[in-house]
Amino acid sequence: MKQQVGIEAIAVAIPRRYLAIEDLAVARGVAPAKYTVGLGALEMAVADPSEDTVALAATAATRLLRAHDIDVSQIGMLVVGTETGVDHSKPVASFVQGLLGLPRTMRTFDTQHACYGGTAALMAACDWIASGSAGGKSALVVCSDIARYGMQSAGEPTQGGAAVAMLVSARPELLAIDHGTSGVFSTDVHDFWRPIGRREAVVDGHYSIECYLEAVAGAYRAWRERATARGFLNDASMPRSEQLARMIYHAPFCKMARKAHLHVRRCELEELAGAPLDAAALAREEREGAASFDAQVAASLLLASRVGNTYTGSLYLGLASLLHAQGTELAGQRMGLFSYGSGCSSEMFSGVVGPRAAEIIAAARLDELLADRTRIDIVEYERIMQLPREGTIAASPVPGTFGFAGVRDDRRTYAGSAAVA
Ligand code: COA
Repeated sequence: MKQQVGIEAIAVAIPRRYLAIEDLAVARGVAPAKYTVGLGALEMAVADPSEDTVALAATAATRLLRAHDIDVSQIGMLVVGTETGVDHSKPVASFVQGLLGLPRTMRTFDTQHACYGGTAALMAACDWIASGSAGGKSALVVCSDIARYGMQSAGEPTQGGAAVAMLVSARPELLAIDHGTSGVFSTDVHDFWRPIGRREAVVDGHYSIECYLEAVAGAYRAWRERATARGFLNDASMPRSEQLARMIYHAPFCKMARKAHLHVRRCELEELAGAPLDAAALAREEREGAASFDAQVAASLLLASRVGNTYTGSLYLGLASLLHAQGTELAGQRMGLFSYGSGCSSEMFSGVVGPRAAEIIAAARLDELLADRTRIDIVEYERIMQLPREGTIAASPVPGTFGFAGVRDDRRTYAGSAAVA
């Protein structure tokens, strides 16, 4: 039997302020339904300069260690997936190691490939464990990003930010990954990028949707071939995606997950029919596709609809949302996960939900995290957006969280502690 590997536990950090997406629509003179229905957004996290990628990563990681009483001497690798790091050379992982006082006996590094960087980190950790190189130790994988497109841009309603920390080990009590079954798809495209020194991303939004859809079809087919060979999918007469209990998609905005799911179904239905769908089949798919989205995907979008885009963390916030809503009923069931990073690289993989998933996700206290935030108005949002990158905020971080505290002697400094008062 193959060695088990996957996610043992998960924790989340989100900025303490949010903007209701309807307030943004009104301020921009846009029909609110364009953002709420057209993009699927309800709220958008607004990070101030003290809540940078390092601070969010350290806060999520400390929550993970504390909630599960993890013995840090058993962690042999710390990888941070990010595309909004704070330094060209010093990785976010080193800051996190220092802030949390983690042992020196671990490998630390960052992984970058737009929103795919978190999955690159997760897969590096799984490979390290499955190969035996870990020597029985676990890995700490953190995905942390602030998504910033800028005021008045088309991407503005899809901003956000968060960090997700995961303990990856040979005891995958949250999600046992079907290691060695991934399907990948990558190509050189300019759909989204951020030249060195720029604070805001540049995005060819509609083209990025096309690139994502091409990638999801390619990665899905590659995964399906390997999953079929391993006996995970047995009914060739129905779309194989329907043989998974749930599908979780990278969600730069919630509507993208819907587009992706309908695209995967459409590709499969056309392959089964051996031809493009006729009018009757298209009408049927309009109903059945919508029902399939509601049953298979919708529950994974809770956090994305309330926090916005979180780049590397997006897929894993989807996993957290889904298990938060349905962890008990999904125990023992297989689900599909699709990760996309512009540029582009993508990966479809699958995993089986662990028997303790509901209990483990409860410790992440997601409802409390959302409820503890402060709603701000458009004036405050615009004020925060115009603060300099290295501007500091007077209030010190609440116990158990970290915050950027200014640059001294050319070095970024942070305040905060792992301890909760
Ligand atoms: N009521 C309901 N829906 C409405 C509407 C209204 N009044 N007005 C527009 N819509 C719908 C549109 O039909 C469209 O939905 P569809 O794509 O299903 O057809 C959706 O709202 C968005 O409208 P659109 O005109 O395409 O918006 P836009 O040109 O302003 O840009 C994005 C939308 C997504 C391209 C833009 O927000 C963006 O660039 N975001 C960043 C993209 C990204 O993150 N890419 C990374 C790839 S992973």
